[in-house]
Amino acid sequence: MLVSASFLSSKYPPDDLKKLNETDVDYIHVDIMDGKFVKNKTMPFREMKNIYKFTDKRLDVHLMVNKPEKYIPLYAELNTEFITFHLESCDDIIENLELIKSYGIKCGLAIKPNTEVKELVPYLSLLDIILVMSVEPGMGGQKFIKETEKKIEELRILLKEYKSEALINIDGGINNRTKKETKLSDIVTAGSYIIKSNNFQEKIDSLR
Ligand code: DX5
Ligand code: ZN
Repeated sequence: MLVSASFLSSKYPPDDLKKLNETDVDYIHVDIMDGKFVKNKTMPFREMKNIYKFTDKRLDVHLMVNKPEKYIPLYAELNTEFITFHLESCDDIIENLELIKSYGIKCGLAIKPNTEVKELVPYLSLLDIILVMSVEPGMGGQKFIKETEKKIEELRILLKEYKSEALINIDGGINNRTKKETKLSDIVTAGSYIIKSNNFQEKIDSLR
């Protein structure tokens, strides 16, 4: 299992990013919120871009914003492996997926807990990754929604049916107890479970 670490709940991101850099975590999950698509707002790009000073891990960017086209060119400049935006966030989905690909970056769509996996079908041939939210987007430290397990099963079947090789990433409320409900995924994204602990590597190991 690949592990992506979210530092959304970090009190002091520079320190936690340095500590994560010393672990074998696969990606740093960068949550971006605009105060519109979700209520909360994260720091502006001019501050967020300083991530590179503290880690050389590849970034897994999760855009929770209404206008992904404004953010894609910015985050494409960083050491970015994936840029994912929400299926529910805009009308020009294909244009935005193509915009991400134009930078040579892997593109993804995220779906909220109440969005059905079949809504992804029109875009499957373009997708490198699918982010299934197991909490409502907007903040860290929430409880894993247990219906997610069934959703991942449905998505696996769908990907097989459409011969898609998109990776499945699960985001929200992941810990050593809920991870068994995500075993059909390729990546798990965990925030507070790692960041609020005093041994990052041990928590990461427990998710693999
Ligand atoms: C929620 C974010 C998640 C969150 C994960 O809106 O997209 O990435 O930070 O944090 P935990 O693991 O604390 O739920
Ligand atoms: Zn996220």
